[in-house]
This record gives sequence, C-alpha cells and structure tokens, in this order.
Amino acid sequence: MLWRRRRARAGARARHAAERTTDYIDGRLPLSEGGGLLRKAFPDHWSFLLGEIALYSFVVLLLTGVWLTLFFHPSMTEVVYHGSYTPLAGVRMSAAYESTLDISFDVRGGLLIRQMHHWAALVFLAAIGVHLLRIFFTGAFRRPREVNWLIGVTLFLLALAEGFAGYSLPDDLLSGTGLRIAQGIMLSIPVVGTYVSFFAFGGEFPGEEIIPRLYALHILLLPGLLLALVTVHLILVFYLKHTQWAGRGRTERNAVGKPMVPQFAASSGGLFFMVFGVLTLLSGVAQTNPIWAYGPYRADVVSTGSQPDWYVGFLEGSLRLVPPWETTVAGHTLMWNVLLPAVVLPGVLFAVLYAYPFAERWVTGDREEHHLCDRPRDHPVRTGLGVAAISCYGVLLAAGGNDIIAYAFSISVNALTWVFRISFLVLPLLAFMVTRRVCRALREADQERLTEGEETGELRQTLAGGYEERHEPLDEERRYVLRSYGLRGEEEREPSAEELER
Ligand code: HEM
Repeated sequence: MLWRRRRARAGARARHAAERTTDYIDGRLPLSEGGGLLRKAFPDHWSFLLGEIALYSFVVLLLTGVWLTLFFHPSMTEVVYHGSYTPLAGVRMSAAYESTLDISFDVRGGLLIRQMHHWAALVFLAAIGVHLLRIFFTGAFRRPREVNWLIGVTLFLLALAEGFAGYSLPDDLLSGTGLRIAQGIMLSIPVVGTYVSFFAFGGEFPGEEIIPRLYALHILLLPGLLLALVTVHLILVFYLKHTQWAGRGRTERNAVGKPMVPQFAASSGGLFFMVFGVLTLLSGVAQTNPIWAYGPYRADVVSTGSQPDWYVGFLEGSLRLVPPWETTVAGHTLMWNVLLPAVVLPGVLFAVLYAYPFAERWVTGDREEHHLCDRPRDHPVRTGLGVAAISCYGVLLAAGGNDIIAYAFSISVNALTWVFRISFLVLPLLAFMVTRRVCRALREADQERLTEGEETGELRQTLAGGYEERHEPLDEERRYVLRSYGLRGEEEREPSAEELER
C-alpha cells in the first residue's frame, strides 16, 4: 500500500514538473499557440521518412566526425610508420595517413567510429537521392515549394562535395588517385585549367597543401553550410506545411496528420535510433574503406580495380565512356574526353535539376498552389523523364565499374564499354516511352476500376457459352481518392461527343 501511495505521489510530482516546464517554455517560445510548433500536423506516409533518414544520418555524421577530429592529423608531413599494423612498419607516409591507421588500430573504438562515419556518408547521399526522387515523382517541388527544391539541390551538391573532401583526407592510395582525377578535371578547363589546379593544390600536384585545405572545407565550411541550409529547409517544410496524399478530409487547403508532439516526435525519434542502430550494426559487420590494404598515396602508383565511393561512381563512369577526343588549337590541347564527362555533364545535370520546377511550370502553364501529392502515373511525361534520367544515371554508375564487371564475367572490357555507350544513348529513350505507356495503362486501369469495380478473378460461364467476370464496387475511400486524381465514375463522366450524338 505504502509503495503505491509513494508511486502515485511521485507520478503527481512528475506531472506537475512537466506542466510547469511546458508553461515556462510556452510563455517564452511560440510553441502551442495558434499555428505553434507542438500541434503542427505532420502527414503520415512512409515516403516522408526518406528526408528524415537523410537528416538522421547527417546527425550521425556530425557526431562521429567531431570524435574523429580528436585523433586525425591533417598534415602531409612525411613520417615513418611505427604503429601496431606491422605490414606497414617502417614505411614512409604522410602524417594524415599515419593518424588514420592509428585511429583504425590503436585508438579504442576508433575503427568502429571511422566505419560509422563512412557508412553514414554512404547512407546520407543515398537517402538524399531517394528523397529527391520522391519529391520529383510526387510533384512536391511545385508552387509554393520551389525555393525548398532549390535549397534541396544545393544540399545535394554540397553533400557530394563534403563526401569527396572527407574521402580524400586519409591520403591513401585510393583517395589520392581520386584527387589525381580531380586535378585532371581541373586541367581540362580551357584557358584557366592550369591556374585552377595550381591554386587548389598550392603548386604542383600533389604538394603539401591539399589535405589541410580539404580538412578546413570538410570540417568547417561545408558542414556549416549544410547545417545552415538544412535548418532553412526544415523551417520551410514547417512554414509551407507538408504535402499529403489525397484522402477523405485531406484537401489542398489543410494538412492532416499526427501532431508534432507527442506522436510525430516519438515516431521520428524512434526512426533516429533505428538509423543510428542500423549504421552501428553495418559498421560492426561490414568493412568499408580499409585504407591499410591500399597503402599510402604515391603519385607514381595506382592500384588496379580502383573504385570511388558509390556517389562519385557516375562521374567515374562518364569519364570511362567518352572516347579519347582531343583538339589542339594554337598549341593548346582541348581535352574533350575529360571536359565533357566531368565538367559539362555534371554542370548540365545540376542546371536541369535547378531549372526543372520552372521549366515544368512554363510548359504546362500550371501556376496553381499544390499541397496534395501527385501520383506518378497521373503525370506520364514527368514520370517518363524521371525514369529516363534514372536509367542514364544507372548506365553511368555501372560504367564506373566496367573493369570489375568485365573481370567478374570474363568479358571484353572494350565490348562492355561499347554496350554502355550505346545504352547511354538508347536506354533513356526506351525508358521514357515504356514508362509513359505504363503510366497511361495504370491510369486507364484505375478508370476501369472506378466505372466497373474491382476484378474479383471469379468467372461466370453463361448458358449461351459466354464468360463474364464478377466485379465488386470499390469502397467509398478508394472512390474518393481516385476522384481526387481527376478520374470520374460512369455516373459523373461528361458524356462524350459520340454519346451526345446518339
Ligand atoms: C541534406 C539533405 C536533406 C535533408 C536532411 C532533407 C530533409 C528533409 C525533411 C526531413 C523533409 C520533411 C520530410 C519529407 O518530406 O521527407 C524534407 C522535405 C522536403 N525536401 Fe528535403 N532534405 C534534404 C535534401 C533535399 C533535396 C536534395 C531536395 C530536392 C532537390 C529536397 C526537397 C524537399 C522538398 C521540396 C520538401 C518538402 C516536401 C513536402 O512538403 O512534401 N530536399 N526534407
């Protein structure tokens, strides 16, 4: 009895303290009053979690990154290794490479945190990519969210740069090869290429400046920009309200979902721990970037089968696909084979991404505000373009591993390169046509469902020998949803010109 009374009193005290804290915060911050944060409605759908996965892997990146700065030395000063990884004992290397070996073998828990940082980067970029695709295919970039789309594309660009800068820091043979490619790309820029390269590397490649410079970018400038832009991005999601899928009671003028506190905060907090848990598990069991196996960087050495992290793979692929085209003008060589795939192509990719919402608005003339998500099938051209772009990207990514694929399947690397070149031109066209057709077919099937009901798969044979299938009428919710996407049932359909004539 006594313990029950004590527990009740402790519960009352805790409730009282929670109320006082809430009142305190409420009196000072715009939390629960009209339109306040606590009651913000957050629509519920799995695809809205993709942005959150990006957010939470970014948090893991920041936490593990801060830890790594305690042990990493961003210096290219030459040292002789005497750490506990004996195969490299007595080898000359940069202090940056040595400190990364130390983190991996001599700092307690170091390898786990290094791996978590690297895995979080891989997942961060993947999550950004699929988040971008969900925004694209559901038309969530349309008015009034164009600015958030532009911020998103910038975040994507910064995340790529941040990943590349971090990947280059350990100064191992693989990352040094990546930097050598980056220098080649700089040199391919007409007129100013040599100056750009000298400026970036502080002189001849590789020099002694690049690692400390990349370090400043990687731990200060780029994360600062990312953090600031993610904050603005999320403020805009709150301010403009989240898009939602059509359904009863969900219109272009409201947002229906879980309140921010406690439901959304609890489920989103759960997602954070899941992301953290999965990244920790992956880092515990799946090796990534074993720099000790590559050795320290030397400008005159390159290992076979060198592969960048997956998000740079499309650039590697585009470089491998372009034939050795060069033109010499007044004694200066124009390296089309590097300029086109590594400067022009990414430039075009990002220009298209930045321009897309405005280009679509210009072509369709749609200037309305949209808060309901589109279904990809209802916009066959947009969906077709998206799938065509994914197929282009897929070809480039696969081409980035042409040597590995050729080796694994014992096929000619030259023949495979030609297959990729042709696929790069043909596959997007095919993908566009097939996707547009599939979208139209799916929409027609929806129309049929609305007018004739759902197929039951049950056949009836009539006495006259004919067959008919039994259809079940759709439930009210599904009829409502299909009507929201502009489909009309038999009774509501405008009569066609032929029907009117009859
Ligand atoms: C650092 C990278 C990014 C983070 C952490 C992030 C985070 C988020 C989060 C948490 C949301 C709300 C939930 C959701 O709709 O998924 C969101 C919404 C949104 N994001 Fe991102 N995002 C990032 C990159 C991008 C990119 C690359 C784009 C597109 C180019 C983009 C465009 C948008 C738009 C337009 C919305 C509003 C969606 C709506 O209201 O339905 N974001 N973002």
